[in-house]
Amino acid sequence: MCGIYGYIGEKSVDEVMKGIKRLEYRGYDSAGIAFQNRERLCEDENTKNGENITLIKNKGEISNLEKIVLNKNLKSNVAIGHTRWATHGEPSIKNSHPHFSGDGKWAIVHNGIIENYLELKQELQTQTESDTDTEIVARLLEKYFNGDVLSTIKNVCHKLKGSYAFAIITSHSPDKIFVAKHGSPVVVGYGKSYGVVCSDINSIKGENIYVLENDQYAIIEKGKINIFDKNLVAIDVGKLGAVKKVERSKLGDYSHYMLKEIDEIPSAIRRTLKEYENIEALEKILPKEKFKKFKNILIIACGTAYHAGLVGKRLFEEEGIYCESEIASEFRYKPFIERRKTLAIFVSQSGETADTIGALKLCKQHGLKTLAITNVRNSSITFEADYCIYTNAGSEIGVASTKAYNCQLVIFYILSKYFNYFKTGDEKAYYDEIKNLKNIARLIKKNDIKSKCGYIAQKIYKSKSIYMIGRGLDYFIAAEAALKLKEISYIHCESYPAGELKHGTISLIDKNTYVFAFVTQEKIKDKTFSNINEVVAREGKIILFSQFDNSNKKVCEEIKVPLVKERYYPLFIINYLQLISYYTALLLGNNPDKPRSLAKSVTVE
Ligand code: G6P
Repeated sequence: MCGIYGYIGEKSVDEVMKGIKRLEYRGYDSAGIAFQNRERLCEDENTKNGENITLIKNKGEISNLEKIVLNKNLKSNVAIGHTRWATHGEPSIKNSHPHFSGDGKWAIVHNGIIENYLELKQELQTQTESDTDTEIVARLLEKYFNGDVLSTIKNVCHKLKGSYAFAIITSHSPDKIFVAKHGSPVVVGYGKSYGVVCSDINSIKGENIYVLENDQYAIIEKGKINIFDKNLVAIDVGKLGAVKKVERSKLGDYSHYMLKEIDEIPSAIRRTLKEYENIEALEKILPKEKFKKFKNILIIACGTAYHAGLVGKRLFEEEGIYCESEIASEFRYKPFIERRKTLAIFVSQSGETADTIGALKLCKQHGLKTLAITNVRNSSITFEADYCIYTNAGSEIGVASTKAYNCQLVIFYILSKYFNYFKTGDEKAYYDEIKNLKNIARLIKKNDIKSKCGYIAQKIYKSKSIYMIGRGLDYFIAAEAALKLKEISYIHCESYPAGELKHGTISLIDKNTYVFAFVTQEKIKDKTFSNINEVVAREGKIILFSQFDNSNKKVCEEIKVPLVKERYYPLFIINYLQLISYYTALLLGNNPDKPRSLAKSVTVE
């Protein structure tokens, strides 16, 4: 989703171009840059001059913008850039950020959504050039300028409803970047000869990095930053404590991050386990005395993290703990049922998903204790939740989540045993779980399946429609597998509980339809095999994943999976489907790292 990068210092335009390229992985459809500039450049549809500020923007890939910017050999000490993921108005040059105020004295980039922008537009009674909510803010800054830039920004922010992270440059106060934050993430930093702002802690380069909190403001200059609270009282930056920089992974010899990240799954699992391999380590984060009073669990998340939560729910249920699992964007807007003795768990790779954070705040308002499971230290969710556990998967750049999902599952395996320990006082089950999970990591590493998965991709890549079925834990495998395949192949793909297929969807199965079936749970295997027969009877082509002997010889392909304890199959089998999705995307000529219309971090509701 949208990204902000700003830089003050030598070669600021180059630094911002590099910065927005690091943000590419988050998903975008256009990009732009604004910089302090005393020369007027030749104007065209991409380039516009304001007052000592120039804007250059373009549609599509950053390379389209780069072609224009690099040609011009631009020299400036102050620049802000943006990658836009369209919300208000189509992806186009006019709608890309940055936006100018009417007088060209202000340029602004924005992440988030201004919900009352139409009302504000009416108040302004002026024509705008774009369809965006952001341009309205630029025009409000012009209208309400009171001689002091920061207080003008604060006064305008007070008029806004919604969420924002802004980076603003203005000819009223050149050599500075102004930043405001409410609800959308933004980090600022400085070194001896530069200052920097970025919307993503994974993508900022520099020292002395600070995460802004809601309703804080910052002024960035070369070599220093000043941070202010909501009343513009200066905050002693020395007391804030700079955060540790996140090491961003490099592509190395790989052609795509997705494949690299799938290959990293075993090491990611081991890293997750390492932090919690002693039960005391977990007790320090989740104190036993406080946690043993929870009798029920509510898990809330979006996308892949929601699918991890479904597996989590079943794992808790296996320990006799009542557990609900909800999609964040649904949960937020339904009647809130008051719950007692309930721990609310929020799963988010990025820690920035707007709906997940919104649901967390709602639960807090209703007095629930909240635990975040996230991959990104210092992400927004870590400041909101009462407790926090890290998945330690390492930075995940591919938009389609892979290793982070496996690590979310690992946390649920561990947590279910941690809760069991409260009930039984039995530490052994916890340590057995750690041992078993280490074995699974080893087995995933050993399991050489790339050519098999490539072969399945060859079979299915021309399909119009694919179904994935299973029961119980197998259904949750199907849910995540179907999401992975559709995200990056753009083939229509749906998951169904195997027993539910006959209540409608089976009518869509014909001789051209592939149906992936997952059968790993002894207790229900015969039931799923019956459902498989129903598909075969309609000439559907089954691709079976199972450790069991299959008496039904009519399946189209059978993948015999190694024997592991049944509860670990969601963690184990998804590896096949991640790879099959990856190879299918390649066969279709799609870039699996940057699927169309998708964003890595969904910061709008
Ligand atoms: C987006 C991503 C998915 C991710 C979901 C939730 O849709 O494309 O890969 O699962 O958001 O993100 P989160 O960061 O909260 O896990």
